[in-house]
Amino acid sequence: MKAACVQFKPEFKKKAENIEKVRAAAESVDADVVVFPELCFTGYFFQSKEELAEYADEFDGETISNFKEIAQKRDKIIVLGFAEKEGDKFYNSAAILFPDEKKNRVYRKTHLFYKEKFCFEPGNTGYFTIKDEERDLNLGVMICYDWRFPEAARTLALKGADLIVCPSNLVTPIWDKVMPARAVENKVYLAVANRIGRERVGDEELFFNGGSTIYGYNGERLAKAGIDEEKIIIAEINPSRARKKSFNDFNDIFKDRRPELYEL
Ligand code: ACM
Repeated sequence: MKAACVQFKPEFKKKAENIEKVRAAAESVDADVVVFPELCFTGYFFQSKEELAEYADEFDGETISNFKEIAQKRDKIIVLGFAEKEGDKFYNSAAILFPDEKKNRVYRKTHLFYKEKFCFEPGNTGYFTIKDEERDLNLGVMICYDWRFPEAARTLALKGADLIVCPSNLVTPIWDKVMPARAVENKVYLAVANRIGRERVGDEELFFNGGSTIYGYNGERLAKAGIDEEKIIIAEINPSRARKKSFNDFNDIFKDRRPELYEL
């Protein structure tokens, strides 16, 4: 099966324009799983809940419902980052949309980065996996800054993820050193969909450094985009291979764990 990441430049607050780009890619990309960046409808650098409010979407609202329909109609899994509104609360969320709508879920970012703390509640969904029997895939989701916490990918892997997808708006230049470790230490595929471009508020500018990558379970880069290009990357993956956690006759990275000696 094929996994894809759509790397592009969301324009801050130009929601209709961004949605149209995401829609066009969601319809046309030839892959079983298509992953878009974090906050891909709105852009990133909101400074307050008040500023964010008019741009946020409910998971059951019209914007996400249109993508639910695309997942059904085009028979593909779509994962996209969006600003979620629930009552008077906002979450930095990922919509996880399946051809079988009963499987649809939302993941709310657990670890908030920088001024996201001005806008969003810390996520309360925790980490979970969703099984797609038709594709023989166990899918797990984390968002961007979750990468700094090995517990995130570990929890997903222990819950059976074969493929972890990571909608992102990455700004620090070091993530690419660590992401392959997340794949290797859990023996999972990992698809990081980052955005490109800059956003400026006053004298503060964020540079989003692209480089979207699909890693194999040995940490190899199966597909990679440049730091400043709009690009769709696609890689062939075989999820069932990520289920075998042994790498010789005597070692199995899950069975060899000694949780009784870990202080976490
Ligand atoms: C990030 O979590 N957007 C860096």
